[in-house]
Amino acid sequence: MTLENKSIGVAFTGSFCTYTLAFQALEELTAQKAQVQTIFSYHAQELDSRFGKAEYFLDKAERITKKPPILTITDAEPIGPKKLLDLFIIMPCTGNTLAKLANGITDTPVLMAAKAHLRNERPLLLAISTNDALGMNMKNIGLLLNAKHIFFVPFGQDNPQGKPNSMIARLNFLIPAAEAALENRQYQPIIQ
Ligand SMILES: Cc1cc2nc3c(=O)[nH]c(=O)nc-3n(C[C@H](O)[C@H](O)[C@H](O)COP(=O)(O)O)c2cc1C
Repeated sequence: MTLENKSIGVAFTGSFCTYTLAFQALEELTAQKAQVQTIFSYHAQELDSRFGKAEYFLDKAERITKKPPILTITDAEPIGPKKLLDLFIIMPCTGNTLAKLANGITDTPVLMAAKAHLRNERPLLLAISTNDALGMNMKNIGLLLNAKHIFFVPFGQDNPQGKPNSMIARLNFLIPAAEAALENRQYQPIIQ
């Protein structure tokens, strides 16, 4: 299934070091003629870091998608009742957001959007980026791998010597993983 004319939510959470690649992937989604709506977690929309200022990334998202990002829980909530999205992608997904998602916590615009979207039994695709994937968050990744309607962009270790618990999504597989998720399929191989 192609992404053309699909309504796709793309959520940014606070894995700031991944933003260069994540924004390239956002551009690829729009190049596929998907209708893309971004959503930013509170930390993603507020924290300036050595990777850039929050305001810069919010502007960039609006320039690429030609729509202002969703920034509040209130504005994310209609995704459920109005069935606004065919596919919701959290890219990058922090350890914090995936731990909360696995445990049913809904206290950011991104988590509200995920909860609202899953209520419609539609696919949620996670592109993880976290230093504790093989540590504290392994159990949460396991829970989400086993959850209905949740899929992963293939992921693997990015620096086994320097950061032995870190894993990141291979964003070069985003488009095929998104196409598979729209068919309720997990793109394989998942570990790369
Ligand atoms: C410069 C910087 C880089 C960060 N990179 C990551 C990261 O790659 N992965 C991660 O899980 N958390 C990372 N964090 C921590 C998250 O931003 C933090 O856990 C935050 O609470 C995430 O909130 P959110 O998931 O609601 O966006 C980073 C924080 C900073 C300041």
